[in-house]
Amino acid sequence: MWFSTNSHHTIMTNMRVILITLHLVLVTIGTVVPMRTESARAFFVFGDSLVDNGNNNYLPTTARANSPPYGIDYPTRRPTGRFSNGFNLPDLISQQIGSEPILPYLSPQLNGQKLLVGANFASAGIGILNDTGIQFVGILRMFEQFSLFKQYQQRLSREVGVVEAKRIVNGALVLMTLGGNDFVNNYFLTPLSARSQQFTVPQFCTYIVSEYHKILMRLFELGARRVLVTGTGPLGCVPSQLATRSTNGECVNELQQAAQIFNSLLVQMTKDLNTQLGSDVFIAVNAYQMNMNFITNPQDFGFVTSKMACCGQGRFNGVGLCTTLSNLCPNRDVYAFWDPFHPTQRALEFIVRDMFNGSSYYMNPMNLSTIIAMDANI
Ligand SMILES: *[C@@H]1O[C@H](CO)[C@@H](O)[C@H](O)[C@H]1NC(C)=O
Ligand SMILES: *[C@@H]1O[C@H](CO)[C@@H](O)[C@H](O)[C@H]1NC(C)=O
Ligand SMILES: *[C@@H]1O[C@H](CO)[C@@H](O)[C@H](O)[C@H]1NC(C)=O
Repeated sequence: MWFSTNSHHTIMTNMRVILITLHLVLVTIGTVVPMRTESARAFFVFGDSLVDNGNNNYLPTTARANSPPYGIDYPTRRPTGRFSNGFNLPDLISQQIGSEPILPYLSPQLNGQKLLVGANFASAGIGILNDTGIQFVGILRMFEQFSLFKQYQQRLSREVGVVEAKRIVNGALVLMTLGGNDFVNNYFLTPLSARSQQFTVPQFCTYIVSEYHKILMRLFELGARRVLVTGTGPLGCVPSQLATRSTNGECVNELQQAAQIFNSLLVQMTKDLNTQLGSDVFIAVNAYQMNMNFITNPQDFGFVTSKMACCGQGRFNGVGLCTTLSNLCPNRDVYAFWDPFHPTQRALEFIVRDMFNGSSYYMNPMNLSTIIAMDANI
């Protein structure tokens, strides 16, 4: 079921109708979601499957979430391309900042005034390195996401003029979620991967953070001025890794250590960049600790397990992919992981709470509530 179907366009058309209807309902009742105002800032998203909201549906790749039970808790109850049972991280951030959800850049519906809200360029399977996720074939690597962002800016300029387009891009909130695949779908993919022959883990982390530095500089050149940079989560604790590498269900040490080395280099790199730019452009998000909180104490968060995925098969439901044939838990709100790699909407809600209201240990140098208050005064 991980390929394109003829019903895809029908689904998208139905979804569009439902979403438009939903939007009207929400605007009418008004109190449920903050209404979009003239001043609602644009939102741009780059990165991998944690934030892809459907771009891969339009690409020749197997890395897709466009078949059931993906989307089972989404308002339409249909798969959308999000790697979640319901909303994903960008959706939940949009809701909190009072913007309508942004569309995948490749969606034919992203036209006209919709361009002003922003766009999502993320593509499941990609990494910092071009050789990450090669097994997924036709996905949008970072340099491709950026060339589409340039194309977007030209289209936006035609819509609102060059000056206003620049103001929208400079004033936008940007989310960049990248790096996990450079480990699980590259360095650690096979025991003798090319990158693991070339580098030790610390050397590899130094190398990919130096490449990430170039990516963030390019993003700055393209006009981004407020960028959330999520570190990688606890890679050794995801059901897929528990299933394949853990003997006793404990998080896999080698991957946990790699994630920690990478994350601490990333925090330092964003600090250095901010110093160099003389402005807090980049905000390091401690996704590792945000996830570890509910992985370590699932009961405190209302989860019955943080080891077993809701959808999957084999040990910890962590073997293979989540498909129509997989085991599926009846209540997604009591699971931390939706599929072998991705958190449930419920778990993402806890992450978003920390992004808005967390201390500087979680959000460095500042949380999203502070950013929004500050930027409102510009
Ligand atoms: C990825 O490929 C693009 C286009 O060929 C190139 O500009 C970029 O430097 C490459 N990145 C890395 C990390 O090799
Ligand atoms: C952050 O805290 C404020 C004040 O307590 C609260 O109203 C808001 O809902 C919180 N935001 C998130 C995303 O949890
Ligand atoms: C969010 O950041 C602001 C400024 O750093 C801080 O005052 C506030 O306490 C933070 N929120 C929480 C819940 O720590």
